[in-house]
Amino acid sequence: MQCKKLLTIAGIAASLMLLTAPMAFAASGSSLFAKEGCMGCHTINGAGGSMGPDLSHVGSKKSESWLKKQITDPNSHFPGGSMPSSQMSGAHLKALSSYLESLK
Ligand code: HEC
Repeated sequence: MQCKKLLTIAGIAASLMLLTAPMAFAASGSSLFAKEGCMGCHTINGAGGSMGPDLSHVGSKKSESWLKKQITDPNSHFPGGSMPSSQMSGAHLKALSSYLESLK
């Protein structure tokens, strides 16, 4: 019976892993904003740094594609600017830029 118990535990562990794996990939735009270091320079709704512009309403003046470009290649918009480019891509880039676009 010991063996069956172990199998049950292994089964539960495996299903937990399957359940939590997609969450790790679907990181939210707001958590990426903090995790990717954007918050060190930018403020959203009163929280964050002041080296870059306040982004609380950035979505009312910029499109999602403009924001994507700003994240990966900021110098194309601000030649000689001081924002570092990010290596973000795929789902993370999409999540962060659509979050910023939603800030109206
Ligand atoms: C070292 C500071 C710094 C970091 C880190 C940084 N930025 Fe910036 N950002 C700036 C500055 C400064 C500007 C203004 C343009 C310039 O001078 O380059 C800017 C401009 C922007 C703009 C354009 C705002 C507007 O109204 O025109 C957006 C959007 C933006 N940053 C988003 C981000 C995101 C998203 C991240 C994280 C991936 C990030 N920034 C990381 C400093 C930073």
